[in-house]
Amino acid sequence: MDRFEIVGGNQLSGEVVISGAKNAVLPMMAASMLSPGKTTIENTPNLRDTRTFINLLNILGVESLFEDSKLTLNTDNISFFEAPYDLVKTMRASFYVMGPLLARFGEAKVSLPGGCAWGPRPVDYHLRGFEKMGADINLKNGYINASCKRLKGADIYFEIPSVGATANILMAATLAEGITKITNAAREPHIVQLCEMLNEMGSEINGIGTSDLIIEGVDELKPVNISVIPDMIEAGTFLMAGAVLGDIKLNNVNPYHLSIVLESLQKAGCKMKAEDSSIFIKKADEISPVDVATNVHPGFPTDLQAQWISLMSICKGKAKMVENIYHDRFSHIPELNRLGANISIDKNIATINGVTKLIGAEVMSTDIRASASLVLASLFAEGRSTISRVYHIDRGYEKIEEKFQKLGAEIKRISN
Ligand code: UD1
Repeated sequence: MDRFEIVGGNQLSGEVVISGAKNAVLPMMAASMLSPGKTTIENTPNLRDTRTFINLLNILGVESLFEDSKLTLNTDNISFFEAPYDLVKTMRASFYVMGPLLARFGEAKVSLPGGCAWGPRPVDYHLRGFEKMGADINLKNGYINASCKRLKGADIYFEIPSVGATANILMAATLAEGITKITNAAREPHIVQLCEMLNEMGSEINGIGTSDLIIEGVDELKPVNISVIPDMIEAGTFLMAGAVLGDIKLNNVNPYHLSIVLESLQKAGCKMKAEDSSIFIKKADEISPVDVATNVHPGFPTDLQAQWISLMSICKGKAKMVENIYHDRFSHIPELNRLGANISIDKNIATINGVTKLIGAEVMSTDIRASASLVLASLFAEGRSTISRVYHIDRGYEKIEEKFQKLGAEIKRISN
């Protein structure tokens, strides 16, 4: 299992290119299955999760070619409709194949995803939605079996604007008979991109970017060529590194997606200059405490909560983080405390008492974003840190150590 060795404190400078967004590309890959033919997805990040999803698509009969961030998927010969436990257990986003398979082939068998490092993550909204659209759903031997003749449009409401359920129902609705309305839909940039891709494929989605989506089903869709939006979570992670360690420029970003993060960094004392697709950040003289609460887009993303806590761990004062999406998504906090942070948790609220310095230690990754927070904290810390189980970070960050090395950080991957 690979680990990172980091010697903290190096100042950073230079430019970093942000990769395509993991959470955008996964549903787009699933969406390619809605039509026969060859879909091309450019700016595809080379991540463990993208490769896992390609494996899954290959099992279903999709032919793929992945070269230099260009992914071509040929969906002419899909002949198997089952997403096996071995893959779904490593990546919950595998559940995205259910909507397209049901819509195009009337059949899908997908392993029920279990819990994850931050507690139970149900898929009840997805299933209730498919049922409302006329699918028969049953659970047997840990698998959801779903079947239908042709899905029918329905009125669907989510209590919480779930990203995954919005994407899955959207994809299913494109080929359903009649109109589907999704009320309280997610509005994340990757949902917007999925809608745009589906409309380019020939679907009729209205209300894009709002929480009320109206989808008029069509009989067939066609393949498209599309490029993935920049990863706002990777960008946010590098911005937080710049806030403490240097003046760096991020290229291939969309500042508009990061509005609340930029605003929070400004309150923390950072100066930034955003242009069309780049952001320059100058390190702050000191990090001021800023209270943050995670929320659905355009709120502060839960996927940047852990990294923000790392930043606040060295603030001058006391900051609070309220986690509103996943109430116990705090597995990074005991590890950050091993690095000398002073953070306590009460229910879904973390209180961060800023310390003057962090000190290197051995720590362990528990999930993708928690690992990123440990990389940041280790870069901020004095001395040497070792982060084990970095396979978590490889799921969602493309060559993070190489990107930090280029900026001047002392970080290396040890494989054994
Ligand atoms: C996606 C992201 C993940 C991010 C999360 C929240 C991908 C591949 N993953 O996960 O990185 O942290 O959005 O921005 O894009 N819920 C239910 N029932 C459901 C579905 C969701 O109760 O059927 C609840 C969840 O428990 C959670 C909330 O809704 O409290 C939001 O979850 P959701 O947006 O669905 O997260 P994911 O799509 O799994």
